[in-house]
Amino acid sequence: MSGEEYHVPVLVGEVSELFAFGGGGVYVDGTLGGGGHFRAIAERLPEASILIGIDRDGEAVERARQAEFYGISAKIIIEQARFSEFDAVLSRHGIERVHGLFADLGVSSRQIDEPARGFTYMREAPLDMRMNQADGMTAAEFLERCGEDELADVLDEYGEIRNARRLAKAIKDFMVGNKMETSADLKRCITKEYGNRADIKLTAKLFQALRIKTNGELTELQTFLDKSATYLAKGGRVAVISYHSLEDRTVKDFFRKAEAKCVCDPNQPICVCGKQVLFKRINRKAITASDEEIKRNPRSRSARLRVAERC
Ligand SMILES: C[S@@+](CC[C@H](N)C(=O)[O-])C[C@H]1O[C@@H](n2cnc3c(N)ncnc32)[C@H](O)[C@@H]1O
Repeated sequence: MSGEEYHVPVLVGEVSELFAFGGGGVYVDGTLGGGGHFRAIAERLPEASILIGIDRDGEAVERARQAEFYGISAKIIIEQARFSEFDAVLSRHGIERVHGLFADLGVSSRQIDEPARGFTYMREAPLDMRMNQADGMTAAEFLERCGEDELADVLDEYGEIRNARRLAKAIKDFMVGNKMETSADLKRCITKEYGNRADIKLTAKLFQALRIKTNGELTELQTFLDKSATYLAKGGRVAVISYHSLEDRTVKDFFRKAEAKCVCDPNQPICVCGKQVLFKRINRKAITASDEEIKRNPRSRSARLRVAERC
């Protein structure tokens, strides 16, 4: 399977230009996927650079390990890990500082297209949804173990579902006497509660919420960003592509706070916070895909790229 069949990367030119812009150094791609961004970054890095590719999905990592990197001067390291733990990978290789950290969030087309992974609601699939199928609870296990209130909070917070309590109650009630193991079971439950004309957007939001919960996606992102300030060398860059507002808000808020000079109460006559400016944003507004890219790759429509430089 070619890289493009596995996953078509978005904003590749923009990422390699704004991210892998410097000289040599250590760069981390925390979301290898089909390796499209990884290869584009690798092609720009001079000799004596190190490029580390990480993914929590064993299949993506295995595939990258089999890949040929002809014409690439940088030293390549590939490891299975969560990107929130990139510091542990660095430490295993005796590296203390990096010059670039990149994450292209969410799941790859390959993960979505493979029904056994359970990310799709378009076909009958087990409710797995783990990016690393050897780690943690599946979505079905979560639904089995959670209480109605916890489920409602997840649907509200991660799916931004209006009247999340109604849906949480409907799911838990349905599970008394019905199995809840596949996407078809979940859809049956939605139809029972909302009728045949149930909004497809509701199903999409429900799947988004369960996926974020199953993989701890927002905690992963926040930890990655928090650690970036510690491990990036001065002038090094962190770049993130997000695909929905919860992710993008997390990145935007982090950069905005990291860039602030002072966080004192505005009524305070003098600054007492001692706040350090950690990052300078490279782009104020998120970079989005061109019309031409959206036409070629509709998945790029929701992509938002933000890049900041360590001060
Ligand atoms: C959108 S795809 C990346 C595509 C890739 N940039 C390319 O060019 O093909 C997201 C990938 O990131 C991985 N991923 C998502 N969250 C992760 C995390 N917290 N740690 C490590 N990998 C993660 C997924 O398993 C998936 O392979």
